[in-house]
This record gives sequence, C-alpha cells and structure tokens, in this order.
Amino acid sequence: MNRESMMMKFRRQLRRNGRGRIKARQEQERPAPIHKSPREIQIMREAGRIVARVHQAFREAIGPGISTWDLDELAAGIIHSHNAKSSFLGYRGYPANICTSINEELVHGIPNQARVLQEGDIISIDVGVFHRGFVGDSGWTYPVGEIDPAAERLLQVTEASLTAGIEAIRAGGCVLDISSAVQKSVEPSGFHVVREYTGHGVGRSMHEGPQVLNYVSDDTDGRVALSPGLVIAIEPMVQMGTWRTETLKDKWTVISEDHSLSAHFEHTVAVTNRGPEILTLL
Ligand code: MF3
Ligand code: CO
Repeated sequence: MNRESMMMKFRRQLRRNGRGRIKARQEQERPAPIHKSPREIQIMREAGRIVARVHQAFREAIGPGISTWDLDELAAGIIHSHNAKSSFLGYRGYPANICTSINEELVHGIPNQARVLQEGDIISIDVGVFHRGFVGDSGWTYPVGEIDPAAERLLQVTEASLTAGIEAIRAGGCVLDISSAVQKSVEPSGFHVVREYTGHGVGRSMHEGPQVLNYVSDDTDGRVALSPGLVIAIEPMVQMGTWRTETLKDKWTVISEDHSLSAHFEHTVAVTNRGPEILTLL
C-alpha cells in the first residue's frame, strides 16, 4: 500500500472510532475565560500584593545555607499574617505552601528540610495565595550567591520573555500575541521554551481559561480576545538544552529531560482598558 491509501485507511478508522468526537468534546470542555469586575480586580490586586511581599522576603533571605523548608515556613508566615492561605497546599494533594525548584528542576519541586541551597544554584520559587476568594500567582528564579554567566543569561532571557509577553497585551489583541512575543523573545538565545506547561486564566480558582501558551500553536486558546476584565498568569518556562521535561518519582518535581538548567518567571496580569496591569507587584 502506498502512503496515500494508508493515510485514507487511517482517516476512515479515525472517523469510525470517533476520535473526532473526543476532540470536539475536549474543545468544549476547555474552560471559558471568566471576566472580572473592577471590584474583583481590586481584590486580586490585594492578593497579588501579598504574593509580592513573599517574593520580596525571598530576595532578602535567599543565600547559601538556607533550606527550601525554611523558605516554605517564611512564606507561610507572611501569607498567614495577611489572613490569606496558600493556594497550592492541598491542590491535587500538593503537600507544601510553595514550590521550590533548584537548577535542572523546572517547577513543582517540594520544599524539604534536607535540601539546602548552595552557592551557584538557581532556585525557582512559585507562590500562590487565596485572599478574599481570589488567587494571586507569581513565580521567580533567583540566583544563590554568584552564579555562572550562562545561568545568569538564562535568568535574563526568561525574565525578559515575561516582560515581552506582558508588553504584547494591546487593545484588540488576542492571547496568541503573548505566546508569540514570548517565543520570539527566547528563540534568538538558543534556549528552549517548555511546551508541556502553560500560563492560564486566574480568578476564584488558580487555573481558569484561557490557556496561555509560551509558543505559537493553533490548537489552543490563542484566539481568545485580550479584553478588559481578563486576568491571566503569564509564565514562560525556559531550559538551556531542551524543551522536553520529565517528572520525578515524587510525582511532582518537573525537571528538564537533559538535566540542563531551567528557569520560570510568572506574574498575574489584569487586562484593563488602560492596558496590562501586573497585579503581583508591591
Ligand atoms: N503556580 C502553579 C501554576 O501556575 C501551580 C502550582 S502547582 C501546585 O500552575 F500544586 F503546587 F499547586
Ligand atoms: Co501559574
């Protein structure tokens, strides 16, 4: 059989076993964006500010000798002092307040008393809170003491891609503008944009529609309009050697498949009629 008839047979089989229907249903189940009122955005601004306070504390505390467990306790103290709670703790059984991912670990690393930061490490910390019913979500990759120039460049490229994504938000635009801006900003570096994890709408739940990819694809929410009231977490994840990832035996920690360094920067951003507003800042 030549390739063409093989393809026709394959397509007939696909029609018969109904894969088209499954696809259509998945598309239906993709959650629609939930727009927020100005009052709701005000609450999300407060939630975002609590998350920003936690990151400010990390910037001061991070250094050789501190454990990821200490960082979790530091975060919990600040979150609880604002009467907020972690949106990660208990999420699908997640056992900690924050995620701490070191070096080749990309996201979802679990804080641990025995995991102590060393000079030259990079650590990605993800923080999410519930405050008055709404979520703030932000992640950042920090250097531990002096890091080597290649690691420094990875952090610069990834942070710059988050900025590029945010700046791509314009009246009349759509989610794909963000995805494209992030991808274009990373690619000249030779580093790799992770594909298996994405940004997302955020509100009363941590994950709402639309999905915000960090690369261009048509099988996504890319055509969703960036209209006022939309609140999204933009979160480029970039790895030095490959875009592929794998998950460790703890079922949470995501690492680069080739164990190259990984970085993650995330802000919760509201689309307003004055343009994008970063909510997870002081
Ligand atoms: N902040 C992550 C995100 O943006 C979620 C952390 S996963 C958790 O998707 F399990 F730790 F909550
Ligand atoms: Co997020």
